Amino acid sequence: KPVVLSGIQPTGGMTIGNYIGAINQWLTLQQDHDCFFMLVDLHAITVRQEAQMLKQRVLDGIALYSACGIDPEKSALFVQSQVPEHAQLSWVLNCYAQMGELNRMTQFKDKSAKNTNNINVGLYSYPVLQAADILLYQADQVPVGEDQKQHLELTRDIANRFNNIYGDVFKIPEPYIPEFGARVMSLQDPTKKMSKSDDNPNGYIMLLDEPKKIEKKLKKAVTDSDEQARIYFDPQEKAGVSNLLTLLSVATKRPIEQLVPEYEGKMYGHLKKDTADAVVAMIEPIQARFHEIRDDQTRLDQIMRAGAEKAGERAEKTLKAVYDAVGFIPRP
Ligand code: TYM
Repeated sequence: KPVVLSGIQPTGGMTIGNYIGAINQWLTLQQDHDCFFMLVDLHAITVRQEAQMLKQRVLDGIALYSACGIDPEKSALFVQSQVPEHAQLSWVLNCYAQMGELNRMTQFKDKSAKNTNNINVGLYSYPVLQAADILLYQADQVPVGEDQKQHLELTRDIANRFNNIYGDVFKIPEPYIPEFGARVMSLQDPTKKMSKSDDNPNGYIMLLDEPKKIEKKLKKAVTDSDEQARIYFDPQEKAGVSNLLTLLSVATKRPIEQLVPEYEGKMYGHLKKDTADAVVAMIEPIQARFHEIRDDQTRLDQIMRAGAEKAGERAEKTLKAVYDAVGFIPRP
């Protein structure tokens, strides 16, 4: 079975963008792939975190992944810091990544521009840790949203560079970016990506937002001032409307081509209302399962233990091969 790996930062819950861009793909892939999904707490501390809060958020994340349908029987669901090989491989790869290529990473440029008082070295080498995450599992495919494409390219470059020196140590991974929904846009500014770090909470929907709140946010969603208020899919010309159609399509599991004709002669208000109803209907059962799992520490522990064990086995093999390749002597 092909191997799949992906991760999400445990920082403040998940947006519906994370769900559509990433988790929704994971749910499909776990049916017939060998999957590894993790909460990247090592990555999270590149931005200052409050310790108690980080712990809560990692547990929230495990519960939320499970509630969405990531099945611990099929997929390894784990916490990055619980598999020490991530940090270990990351150091080695730091020595095979060039500062010049890291300087070009747009996520680093954005984050360091926003966060001028804490541009730490971890933030800079963040993509190298991500490369370690992926290469440790010899992943074939990495399901991510559009914004992670550059990090995936860097991962491939580092892997190829290493392989050119030492032979075929790493599998070269392919990004798996969905054709549609890879970039869910802000509800307030549909030219920008939906992000939980948006200053205006009306721009994003969190998976754990109360249904009333979701309805309000979608009601306020920015569309456009097209006088005829026509509803069709065109992310360039009709960014806001297309974003709503994307949400509606994922939430109803119906293709956009099928939905659009139903809105002929209807108003934006109809589309917003239907989208809100569909999103709430999709999210409500996830929320119920989330609370059930989140309150069950034994179950959370079981999921994390099983996940880390399965992940650790695979990670250990790769790290051994890497250590051997670069010339480290195993502890006698
Ligand atoms: P993170 O936590 O920012 O986002 C997690 C996933 O959600 C996708 N995503 C979106 N997709 C569509 N529309 C949006 N508005 C949207 N916002 C976020 C992201 O593309 C991502 O797939 N660096 C990664 C975490 C990471 C990782 C990895 C991913 C660490 N190691 C190894 C894959 C493999 C990140 O910051 O994701």
